[in-house]
Amino acid sequence: MNVLRTAVTGVGAYLPERIVTNAELAQRVDTSDAWIRERTGIAERRQVADGQATSDLALEAANGALTAAGRTAAELDLIIVATTTPDLTFPSTAAIVQRKLGCPILVAFDIQAVCSGFVYALSVADGFVARGLSKCALVIGAESMTKLMDYDDRGTCILFGDGAGAVVMEPVEGRGDVTDRGLLGFALRCDGAKQDLLYVDGGPSTTGTVGHLRMAGQQVFRHAVVNITEGVEAAARIAGVAVPDVDWFIPHQANMRILQGVAHRLGVAEDKVICTVDRHANTSAASIPLAMAEAIADGRIKPGQLLLLEAMGGGLTWGACVLRL
Ligand code: ACO
Repeated sequence: MNVLRTAVTGVGAYLPERIVTNAELAQRVDTSDAWIRERTGIAERRQVADGQATSDLALEAANGALTAAGRTAAELDLIIVATTTPDLTFPSTAAIVQRKLGCPILVAFDIQAVCSGFVYALSVADGFVARGLSKCALVIGAESMTKLMDYDDRGTCILFGDGAGAVVMEPVEGRGDVTDRGLLGFALRCDGAKQDLLYVDGGPSTTGTVGHLRMAGQQVFRHAVVNITEGVEAAARIAGVAVPDVDWFIPHQANMRILQGVAHRLGVAEDKVICTVDRHANTSAASIPLAMAEAIADGRIKPGQLLLLEAMGGGLTWGACVLRL
């Protein structure tokens, strides 16, 4: 049976230049390089420059993805930006990216699912592309998470960083089985009852402020391992693949111990796990496309391989997706 699939045809990424090491953070809060490395695996993170907005990071990643796909901004008909740190309350960061790219009028909007945003956005893009409603879509995960940090809270300010990753997505014909190129299956979840475990304590309709990120670290950790495992197994079932058979596991980069714990529970070999958390920290919706871009650029991920993506974040939200590059 011929089916329309949504294929990733180009990947791009961008990291701000400024590197913030653990040692630098230790001058601001009561922590140490050794504590951060041991509990999280993080050695450093990037930070946006003054005057650099989330849309600026997104734009750089978008241009990289367009070049990799051999497409121009003029060919785009859909832009989705997954972000929890938009430039402004409105317009959407996607609309700002459209203006900066100089695209013609198209469909553009943001998705807010925090760290799960990129996986959610892929599924929404698939709803357009695989129904023939988009011929060339751009999905971006872009975040300035350092703007949400309370630098008096050592339990959170060490965990996050800034960056952006992007993919171009286009329709391809498939046979309707696991040999197809493109997105093969998703599972998305949200449990709003767990809001208090991970949230930002500000917003336009409540405090009128941007707010700071608040987290019950240990409880988030426990939910992460259990929830992600269930979401991944559901996505793999829908895609018709066995988890250990994937070529690469690309988890949201929150904490090395969560990555390893989930991979272990799923039976994924350690050398199949793409890991950037040591250098990027947690870049929320940007972390998966950033990791994907790095592993494609260094030749680990090759066309035709089967990828498993997963994330969990504020909401709580979580989700996973299986795709063949
Ligand atoms: N430096 C030194 N000590 C610290 C630091 C720090 N940066 N942060 C906390 N501590 C202290 C605590 O105050 C506590 O001290 P106490 O025993 O004297 O009270 C001690 O370390 C232990 O604190 P815990 O919170 O129990 O430490 P834990 O081992 O759980 O590590 C961490 C904390 C790293 C935050 C961990 O819970 C974690 O990674 N949780 C998951 C967080 C996460 O990944 N969130 C994001 C996922 S969703 C998203 O991406 C938005």
